[in-house]
Amino acid sequence: MANSLKLGMVGAGFVARFHAISLRQVRGFELAGVTALKGAEELAGSARAWGLGETRVYPSIAEMAGEVDVVALFAPNYVRVAMMEELVAAVKAGANLKGVICEKPLGRTVAEARRLVELARSANLRTAYFENQIFMKPVRAALAQLEPVQKTMGPMSLSRSSEEHGGPHEGWFWDPTKQGGGVLNDMGCHSIAVGWYALTPLGKDITFLQPQSVSAEIGLLKWGQPFWRDKLLKDRGVDYSKTPAEDFATGMITYRNPETGRKVKAQFTNSWMFEKQGLRLFMDGMGPGYAFEVNTLVSPLNIFIGDAAAEAIRDAELALEKSTATRGLLAVQHNEGDLYGYTDENEDAIRAFSEGRDGFLPWSYGLEITRLVMASYMAAESRRTVDLTDPATQKALETYVPLIAQGRGAEVL
Ligand SMILES: NC(=O)c1ccc[n+]([C@@H]2O[C@H](COP(=O)([O-])OP(=O)(O)OC[C@H]3O[C@@H](n4cnc5c(N)ncnc54)[C@H](O)[C@@H]3O)[C@@H](O)[C@H]2O)c1
Repeated sequence: MANSLKLGMVGAGFVARFHAISLRQVRGFELAGVTALKGAEELAGSARAWGLGETRVYPSIAEMAGEVDVVALFAPNYVRVAMMEELVAAVKAGANLKGVICEKPLGRTVAEARRLVELARSANLRTAYFENQIFMKPVRAALAQLEPVQKTMGPMSLSRSSEEHGGPHEGWFWDPTKQGGGVLNDMGCHSIAVGWYALTPLGKDITFLQPQSVSAEIGLLKWGQPFWRDKLLKDRGVDYSKTPAEDFATGMITYRNPETGRKVKAQFTNSWMFEKQGLRLFMDGMGPGYAFEVNTLVSPLNIFIGDAAAEAIRDAELALEKSTATRGLLAVQHNEGDLYGYTDENEDAIRAFSEGRDGFLPWSYGLEITRLVMASYMAAESRRTVDLTDPATQKALETYVPLIAQGRGAEVL
């Protein structure tokens, strides 16, 4: 452990715990610190028990920054910029940081994402934007398996990607003024990123394909209905009769290959109104004469729990993220962090920072994803296809704040 990178986490909630579990499979680091408003002691205790290091709880980012090599921002979207400002101030005051990790979405607007990129640059920090789905082993295995056919037949021309579940676990995700929108901002970023990645010809940079246009639709299909709206207010303290957000989004992004001029398309679909067993990630891709498909609800492990035994069940979320059922035939994923790509994105960041470079997905890439998410809101709100090659549209996106994020969702949903 002596020469390994010291990692410090900001935030000790859902995703920080997922990362800590995944880090059990990664070498070359020590989880040296955690700071959070809530949950830090518990996470640090688990980390120590799992052998991740002498994980200490720090009272602030600034104090932790002086004791670690890498800081991972795993706190809610609405505190990102302030946290990064605190981190940069700590570096300028002498903290010797190598790199900084940020969970998705990088920003809630293009302006926020751009500010984060600039802040990291101002402190000369290497960056890693955490988009786990690009690191998913099934996605990487599909692309590796298809490499020879892609070489002879040509790259993929259509990808479809979706992430869906029944709704997030904390109130702030549901509040569009805090989170930055509804499901499109929360999970559209994943599906847009992995769709773009799947289409990218082998060996080309992750932003090689140039985004041309975006069409999108959003809707409030479940959580605006009186029964569900009341439940949301009671369970999460968010009132969708006043500040609604979309629980369904779908769209199409067209990309251009700058070498061949060929256009390819990526369709995305996201929802918080998914009524199946739990979280489902679905991706497929079509090339000339070949295809792939990933569906994370297809597991090698099924468990059956009948009514007679249902009283004694274990916590359903132990089986699957966002589980909705506790009996019947249940899909169980035995290593979700690895399946969803958390293990591999952490490994990538730790190796990259140890070697003094950015992760596979630097923050500048996160900014591009934020731009595509904002363009999708713009397309849905204006009910027109957004032309990303138009300079006026590019300029408008720089300052665009979706109506939904402004708390004016009732005007568009
Ligand atoms: N990659 C994924 O699939 C995925 C999944 C879930 C969440 N996320 C992202 O991770 C981030 C965190 O989400 P989460 O689900 O863990 O949220 P959460 O609400 O479960 O946990 C947030 C943590 O941050 C802490 N926190 C909040 N405000 C703070 C402040 N001002 N100072 C210090 N600590 C503070 C909280 O105390 C808590 O420990 C979000 O940006 C979210 O979009 C990504």
